[in-house]
Amino acid sequence: MMDWTDRHCRAFHRVLSRRALLYTEMVTANAVIFGDRERLLGFSPAEHTLAVQLGGSDPAALAKAAAICAEWGYDEINLNVGCPSDRVQGGNFGACLMRDPALVAACVAAMKAAVALPVTVKCRIGVDEQDPEIALDALADGVLAAGADALIVHARKAWLEGLSPKENRDIPPLDYDRVHRLKARLPGVPVSLNGGIATLEAATAQLAHVDGVMLGRAAYQQPELLLRVDSLFFREQDPHADAFAAVVAFEPYVAAHLATGGRLHDITRHMLGLFTGRPGARAYRRHLATEGVKPEAGLDVLRAAVDEVRRAEERRALVA
Ligand SMILES: Cc1cc2nc3c(=O)[nH]c(=O)nc-3n(C[C@H](O)[C@H](O)[C@H](O)COP(=O)(O)O)c2cc1C
Repeated sequence: MMDWTDRHCRAFHRVLSRRALLYTEMVTANAVIFGDRERLLGFSPAEHTLAVQLGGSDPAALAKAAAICAEWGYDEINLNVGCPSDRVQGGNFGACLMRDPALVAACVAAMKAAVALPVTVKCRIGVDEQDPEIALDALADGVLAAGADALIVHARKAWLEGLSPKENRDIPPLDYDRVHRLKARLPGVPVSLNGGIATLEAATAQLAHVDGVMLGRAAYQQPELLLRVDSLFFREQDPHADAFAAVVAFEPYVAAHLATGGRLHDITRHMLGLFTGRPGARAYRRHLATEGVKPEAGLDVLRAAVDEVRRAEERRALVA
């Protein structure tokens, strides 16, 4: 998620689930080709299985960018056909490409020819005045004929005229049934659903209709829910008994970042949502927000923040 997630966030989420497929935020094809690749594409091996999401609409540039990402070791290339921001529309990519399935198909075909990795597409059900029954099928059929390996559908329209990107994530109504119908029509194609899924119970209910569920904001804002993903969806043991154990397991990553001159806050800003809803969560966040941002902040600050939750839970246990 642009401006929210980065490699540190993914490294943290990987500690919480070994099996969830992680995605980068969107990176434009031109940024990959001309930009600072270490900053844009660098990741730690622990983050696998990891998809990179590309933005663009020039098949040749996307093919080149996909080949570069394959060299960097990504496991999947995903094309963004869902982002509604002005910045993105100006470049003719993101959600406005829902209007041009043939161009998206050409992009997918070019990327497929350039890499041996799965190439997937994330799209909306339509934009503006489009009829989702027609628009989604047209996009899906085009990219599948071009070789796309899977689809992820954000189950609402994007209104490119008049709504901000943030409003476009909340205001157009969710239409899960439309995604279910797509999957029913394409039984052999992996289809994942995205949009408004806030709990693992809601994700489980969706899996009766689709093959996968993508969590955006909920995973970022309440990462603790990822701790049960492996047992619920992959029938494997969860990596950690609780969030306390997960933080301890994450400490070596944090220490390594600090040792190279990185700031604690680079990482802990992605951890503020941990412990949400528990006693002490506010004190935890406050400690990280005040002490964690100091240039000299170290692991002790993270530990002290976590202790706020531990102490609050102990107090509650004593009262009970
Ligand atoms: C801050 C922010 C940045 C986002 N950036 C991206 C992005 O780079 N690529 C993308 O496909 N979706 C992006 N999204 C959209 C989410 O991936 C997701 O489709 C949307 O939030 C709906 O799912 P959710 O209700 O689970 O969050 C972003 C969302 C937010 C809140």
